[in-house]
Amino acid sequence: MKWTEYVVEYFIISIYLCSYYKQVNSLDNGLLRQPPMGWLTWQRFRCVTDCDTYPDTCISEKLIRTQAQLLVQGGYLAAGYEYIIIDDCWLNMTRSVDGLLQPDNKRFPSGIRALSDYVHSLGLKFGIYEDYGTETCAGYPGILGHLSVDAETFASWKVDYLKLDGCNADIKDFDTGYPAMEDALNATGVPIAYSCSWPAYQEFDKMKPNYSAIAHSCNLWRNWADIDDSWESVYSIVQWFGDNQDRLSPFHGPGHWNDPDMLVIGNYGLSPGQSRAQMALWSIMAAPLILSVDLRTINDWARDILLNKNLIAINQDPLGAMGRRILKLDGNVEVWSKPLQDDRTAFVALFPQPYGTPIRMSIKLSDLGLGRYQDYDLFELFHGDFLGKYHYTDAYNFTINPSGDVHAFYAESAEPKTKFHKKLRL
Ligand SMILES: *[C@@H]1O[C@H](CO)[C@@H](O)[C@H](O)[C@H]1NC(C)=O
Ligand SMILES: *[C@@H]1O[C@H](CO)[C@@H](O)[C@H](O)[C@H]1NC(C)=O
Ligand SMILES: *[C@@H]1O[C@H](CO)[C@@H](O)[C@H](O)[C@H]1NC(C)=O
Repeated sequence: MKWTEYVVEYFIISIYLCSYYKQVNSLDNGLLRQPPMGWLTWQRFRCVTDCDTYPDTCISEKLIRTQAQLLVQGGYLAAGYEYIIIDDCWLNMTRSVDGLLQPDNKRFPSGIRALSDYVHSLGLKFGIYEDYGTETCAGYPGILGHLSVDAETFASWKVDYLKLDGCNADIKDFDTGYPAMEDALNATGVPIAYSCSWPAYQEFDKMKPNYSAIAHSCNLWRNWADIDDSWESVYSIVQWFGDNQDRLSPFHGPGHWNDPDMLVIGNYGLSPGQSRAQMALWSIMAAPLILSVDLRTINDWARDILLNKNLIAINQDPLGAMGRRILKLDGNVEVWSKPLQDDRTAFVALFPQPYGTPIRMSIKLSDLGLGRYQDYDLFELFHGDFLGKYHYTDAYNFTINPSGDVHAFYAESAEPKTKFHKKLRL
């Protein structure tokens, strides 16, 4: 290349990078530079507190210990799933005589600090749930009026991650209340990842959340509806994120993440194709990968999807860009794309509706936004198989199954990398 071409190339790359490095004045606790990965009780275990009727699935230290062991033994921790988080229904209905939060002593007889220590001894991190209001969603004591003392309690229990819900509170207080809890967490001196339900309640109330302020106080935040164990639920959330991507994606990145809620893979509601779809879409969106599944009974095929190294790598890509829905094609197939470090791009084509038979699709590489280079190598994402070398004017043809399945692939330049290129790659 001549030097003039270098300059042009540099200019193009600078524009390209700048568009993904929009400055967000974000929370500075050093945590969650990549989307968090872990396991949370809620979707699969809800608020079951009757351990006589449900001895194996009630919210208890026994359940957490068992699932924590299986996170390690099943290879999930090795794949990156490091947080184990208790959602609602761990508390005693009243505070202690000293005004402190205390767990239900029948279901957590050893106490939270001992459970946290056990979780840490396995190499995992420990997360817990509370609520900004007077009571949690299930009616246990909330933190309102006790922010500092509760933050101190969490720090003394060596909590690594706090999910703070927004039931039983005045939503108008959230813009000051959630930051006040972050101040209280910060004041403990212990780094605690902070998951806020702040915008979700505001979106539902048709208020306009201040995502700039939210990214300044929270490491991640729930934007929209609770997920359920069905494709209908998964896809309605995906649609909402696609419809609102212009508002959400500028505030998404290392240390501060939009959260479309848990992975429901491995439970009762999703087919294998729909499970592949949720994993691929959550990876493309750089969403938190939070399992909610009984690891004692999960099927091998579901486990393989959750442990897929390629998809996890797309999700955890250091650039941290939130993927976007870029195309809607005939037959209601939609295409999502996510720019990756090293100038690669991941794509997911989704066929959400029932149809009965696979369909053949044809997409020009230029319609996928590719064309900075002459030639691209395409790879299937789940297995990493080489799909071929394509000129940027070519069309890529593939077959996709109906009823919520995906075809996932990624593209990288097939041109020889110059030294200069390498230097610019991050
Ligand atoms: C709840 O706490 C009170 C004291 O604060 C205690 O007497 C009671 O046994 C506790 N109940 C449970 C289920 O933890
Ligand atoms: C507290 O906030 C300051 C300033 O943003 C930051 O440098 C520090 O790392 C934070 N500490 C913790 C424990 O989060
Ligand atoms: C949003 O919050 C930021 C502070 O993070 C503030 O500067 C800005 O004025 C707020 N925007 C609105 C519309 O309230």
